[in-house]
Amino acid sequence: MARNSSMDRQNQSGAGGDGAFEFFDRHPVANNMFEDVLTSLAMSPKRLAPKYFYNARGSELFEAITKLPEYYVTRTEQSLIAERGLEIGAQIPAGVCVVEYGGGSSEKLRALLGVLSPSAYVPIDISRDYLLQQARALHSDFPSLSVYPTCADFSAPVELPEPVDDIPKLAFFPGSSIGNFNRASAQIFLGQVARAVGPGGQMVIGVDRRKDPAVLEAAYNDSQGVTAAFNRNVLSHINTELGATFDVSSFRHEARYDVADGRIDMFLISTRDQRVRIGEHSFDIAENEAIHTESSFKYHVDEFVELAGRAGFDCELTLSDDDEYFSIYLLRARSATD
Ligand code: AVJ
Repeated sequence: MARNSSMDRQNQSGAGGDGAFEFFDRHPVANNMFEDVLTSLAMSPKRLAPKYFYNARGSELFEAITKLPEYYVTRTEQSLIAERGLEIGAQIPAGVCVVEYGGGSSEKLRALLGVLSPSAYVPIDISRDYLLQQARALHSDFPSLSVYPTCADFSAPVELPEPVDDIPKLAFFPGSSIGNFNRASAQIFLGQVARAVGPGGQMVIGVDRRKDPAVLEAAYNDSQGVTAAFNRNVLSHINTELGATFDVSSFRHEARYDVADGRIDMFLISTRDQRVRIGEHSFDIAENEAIHTESSFKYHVDEFVELAGRAGFDCELTLSDDDEYFSIYLLRARSATD
């Protein structure tokens, strides 16, 4: 394990400048993109995993999505934290350790720091370089906050850094990232988080809601075509990374809301018959054939509270915008006897 400067005293943010900084590497198994892509393109219907959206260009495009007029998700969550974050903060003890799942970018954590006084921050991310870069920047802006970046794959249980063992914990999972898990996997993930924060530990999670299909379809098929470019970029990424021969311009973007299942599905639809080569392998794609690239699950409030309940969490507080597009939940992990 790499040790960076490490100091023992735990201060609250905003006070002195002697928070610790230590990197914890849980050595996640690297993606095998080649195997993954070959396997998922051999399925029927064809699929590609949404994690492959996020090369440098993909992250840039996602950032642009968060600013689109139709994509209410990010801005609604941010204004809920800005306008009503103190209601959350009032329920969370000073000195708490914030554990962010997917703590690549610390922007949302910074908003939360306005309403909490944590002593420690544990960003968990699979992308080592980005994680360390973001964690260092945060530590230099909040030198009294102890920062323990942890490189791990949080689709499996994560062992938290030893220095936070005895500190009350608040898991943080903003942005409706939970939407990329199907409902069964979401429950498993929340169960793992409940065990990580321990009995009495808390979680703040932002979750997109079921709503008018027209609003959802516009959010995932914006008029400027940014989401279409984001979706198609997965093919460019595969071309670059694996030397594949996708003709990116011969795929069109489609986003469909399945009302009964409460989920958006995104597809890339081939506009012609084509053969794509990846190394020694080749795939035939028919005109109008779809490649599934992402599902984004939506939840009624009661539905989410029930799912969290099955994972071992009680709901302490729900904040929703006036349109009821998005909700932030404050959850508390039950002890076995509760
Ligand atoms: C990052 C999974 C929360 O589902 O809204 C946005 C991804 N895809 N537009 C979402 C996404 C297309 C986003 N999440």
